[in-house]
This record gives sequence, C-alpha cells and structure tokens, in this order.
Amino acid sequence: MRIDVLTLFPGMFLPFLDESILGRARRRGLLEVQVHDLRHWAEEDRHRSVDDRPYGGGPGMVLMPGPVTRAVEAVQGACPRPGRLILLTPQGRRLDQALLAGLAREERLVLVAGHYEGFDERVRLALAPEEVSVGDYVLTGGELPALVLIDGTARLLPGVLGDGTSAACESFGEGLLEYPQYTRPAEFRGMRVPEVLLSGDHGAIARWRSEQSLRRTRERRPDLLAGSGPQGQGAQGVQGTEE
Ligand code: ADE
Repeated sequence: MRIDVLTLFPGMFLPFLDESILGRARRRGLLEVQVHDLRHWAEEDRHRSVDDRPYGGGPGMVLMPGPVTRAVEAVQGACPRPGRLILLTPQGRRLDQALLAGLAREERLVLVAGHYEGFDERVRLALAPEEVSVGDYVLTGGELPALVLIDGTARLLPGVLGDGTSAACESFGEGLLEYPQYTRPAEFRGMRVPEVLLSGDHGAIARWRSEQSLRRTRERRPDLLAGSGPQGQGAQGVQGTEE
C-alpha cells in the first residue's frame, strides 16, 4: 500500500514511521509512506503563506484553500491512479476498526493533516474528501490522527504482523475485547497465572479465553455487545494484537 501524507510538519512523521512494526513493513516494501510539506505549495506572496486569519474574525488561523488544493492535486497526479482522499478533522466520521479494515483494502491513501483552526471550507467543496476523526476531542493538529490511521491500517496489511497473527486474532475478535494475557513468571508477588493456561489443554484454554473476552466486554464496553457501538455498527476485531 502507498500512503501520501500532506502536512505542515513532516518532521513529526518519520520518527514514528521508522520504528517497530511500521518501520519493518516499510523496509520490507509492504508499506510506502511519502510525506509532503504543504508549504511547498504555499501562496506566491512574500511570506509563502499557507494560512491566514478567519474572515469575520475569531481566534486562530485557517489553512488557505489554494495551497491545500494544489498540493492534493499535485500528489494525486503523481501516480497513475488517485488515492482515497481523507482529511483528518474532528468533524469527520469517527475512526473504528470497520473503517480501518476498508482502508486496508485500498491500494493508495492520500491523507491531509490540518493544523490551527482548520481548513477553509472551500477545500471541502473543491476536493470532496472523506473526513475522519480519531475521537470526540480536539488535538493541535491532524498529524497524530494521521499516524493513528496509518498504524491501524498498516497492521491489517497482509504480512505486516507476520506468522498469521493478524488473521487468527481478527477472526477471534468478533467485536469483543481481548482476554487477559500472561507471560513468565508463573507467579508474581503472590499472583499466579490461571492454572488453565499452564494446562496445555488447548480446548480448555480457548474456552477460558472466550469466556474472559465476553466478561471483559460486558463489564467495560457493553455497547459493543449490544451491536450498537457509538456509531451504531458494533465493533469488529477490537482485540489487541501486540508486538
Ligand atoms: N485534528 C484535531 N483534532 C482531531 C481529531 N480529534 N481527529 C482528527 N483530526 C483532528
């Protein structure tokens, strides 16, 4: 998969993208991420502006439509097929596992991370992007949300998690939270690992895990069981898959 990111702060991306599972996926050619500096498409004025004060007054700065639109058009035009265009904003559709699963099936994504008070409304009118939010809170910009989206998408790409972990865990998930996990030592400060996990009885272990998943989901996220997550879709594969 190829992901293009447009941002005023390219330096925020590379440290994260170089490490761990994403770094490995990029080195193995499973994921290509190109980060572009929106300033490159700045207005031709003396200051190479990308933002200005809002018409009508009010706090903060608004990203101008020219640089953002030109940047998206140039980046889209650089590949034979345009990517699925996504603006990260708090006004977008809330990101969830179902949306990530859909994104992971795309060949190419183009993400635009805003900053300041947001985008001039004509960016929306000119480009008709999808809009995605990572939650009902406001961050200083769309850079972390873009990284969240990249991370959540990349781990669903074939081969990224390795040794079939992905498929196995996602099909287990079925909208439930993950069961408790344990590793060595078998006893820590008087707390023992549940005997069933040491039993070697794979059937019993699977039953225990699925009971625990259900119990945990009931206690912590009953909305998932009702099949009525915050956006009425329930959850899919909420189970974590740690490195
Ligand atoms: N930019 C600022 N806050 C955001 C959020 N919650 N989701 C996506 N982009 C954002």
